[in-house]
Amino acid sequence: MFIHLPSGKPACAAHQGRNFLAATSPAATEEARGSFNSRRVFILAAIGSAVGLGNIWRFPYVAYENGGGAFIIPYLVALLTAGIPFLFLDYALGHRGRGGAPLSFARLSRRTEALGWWMVGTCFVIGVYYAAVVAWAVRYTGFSFSQAWGDDPNGFFFNSFLQSSEPSVNFDIVPGVATPLLIVWVAVLIIMAMGVSKGVGATSMVFIPLLMLTFSILVVRSLFLPGAAVGLDALFAPDWSTLADGGVWAAAFGQIFFSLSVGFGVMITYASYVGRKTDMTSSGLVVGFSNSSFELLAGIGVFSALGFIAQAQGVAVGEVASGGIGLAFVAFPAIISEAPGGAFIGVFFFGCLVMAGITSLVSVLEVVISAIRDKFEMTRVGATTAVGVPAAVLSLAFFSTASGIIVLDIIDHFINLFGILAVAVVSMLVIAWGARALPELTAHLNATGGFKIGRGWQALMAIVVPAMLIYILIDAFIAEFAAPYGDYPTWMLVVLGWGICGTLLVVAILAARVKWRPGTSLGTPAAIKKERVQ
Ligand code: ALA
Repeated sequence: MFIHLPSGKPACAAHQGRNFLAATSPAATEEARGSFNSRRVFILAAIGSAVGLGNIWRFPYVAYENGGGAFIIPYLVALLTAGIPFLFLDYALGHRGRGGAPLSFARLSRRTEALGWWMVGTCFVIGVYYAAVVAWAVRYTGFSFSQAWGDDPNGFFFNSFLQSSEPSVNFDIVPGVATPLLIVWVAVLIIMAMGVSKGVGATSMVFIPLLMLTFSILVVRSLFLPGAAVGLDALFAPDWSTLADGGVWAAAFGQIFFSLSVGFGVMITYASYVGRKTDMTSSGLVVGFSNSSFELLAGIGVFSALGFIAQAQGVAVGEVASGGIGLAFVAFPAIISEAPGGAFIGVFFFGCLVMAGITSLVSVLEVVISAIRDKFEMTRVGATTAVGVPAAVLSLAFFSTASGIIVLDIIDHFINLFGILAVAVVSMLVIAWGARALPELTAHLNATGGFKIGRGWQALMAIVVPAMLIYILIDAFIAEFAAPYGDYPTWMLVVLGWGICGTLLVVAILAARVKWRPGTSLGTPAAIKKERVQ
């Protein structure tokens, strides 16, 4: 099931490297892969990936639906025990392996390559649906000027804008969604084609500072709306009973992994573009805490605004916040219509969603593009086209239809649990117990790290976090059968949920059987370094 070596023996790096050196030196290959110009660009790109729809659109309703203030406990536990430690693991893999997810895994141990492809597949699926939400935000930025939703934001979003056919299934194209979706794909693919430094890095350099500034202004504005305190009360009022609910813990871990972009290849890929002497552990702390600070800020901003609209309409915050997936697109338009200077709030809010969304979308697509380029002889533009065109076509085919939101909701739910969390737990177990690579990865991080990590980190990665995640996954698995998600038709859950997650596994195993392009060195980093010197 894993890639074939001609000899069936561990590859001798020097032997493999000869051919490699004859064609292209590893240093030249590294240059051709692209790189971030500085640590600052890397950190901004990593924050750009982490801060995304997950922070602004997903976190507030996940927190609210899972115990409000009490959710902070599983959230912080997930961040400190799993999120940041796993971020270190991703960084170690990519920084050591100097490749996208499959190549970095293959360079750790040949038999683990399929894990990298599992991540690549997960990113491909995330990219396909993520673009749809960015496209909605693009359209709603425009709608904010005229407040196109009138006095019925809910009806407008589901019936007029999405032309949702829920609960029946209808794959008719909705032009109002298809057009912004096409624009998003064209814009993102241009960025991707421009490469790591001029495309991915430069986009983050512009968007992330702008996003931080715009979002801070928005939060301050929201805090001054009448009723903001009521909203904050609703968000932070703890419902401690939820801590006994396994589903709440699953939601916290799912949120952290999705939000921090860990466990699905992004941080492995980005770390492979960073200078060899870069301090990865300190960078990880900056990224991890920036992401969670932004997430909390988003919760505060969103719930202040929800408090305002609840008070204005004389209803409980629960009634305006219960929109789940529609929270941003139903509750916010109502706020925009009601608040003084609403158009300004709207443009800022949806503009932030677009900026945060684009930098994250770019990062998940980079996982796929870098993996394809590592594996096959392809130019940047060629790989962008090979990945981007099918992704855009699938995205348009599924998400610009009247059933788009149902498809999106199901895929988002399943990919977070049985995609991201599953691949995360399997890779931790394989790295720790199969490849027994944690000591080596520790040494790698410590060689350049601003602070040392040790046995505590290894214990978290090998025992504590896998145990928690396995428990959470089993619990979620049982819950899935006890009450199928969202009352959707069973065939849809089977095809779009279990079907997609299962297909990703099969494709990963097959992809790992495909031969690497001639001359690819799969040796240990020490051997690769030796090749560089020769
Ligand atoms: N980390 C990205 C987000 O939060 C995927 O949306």
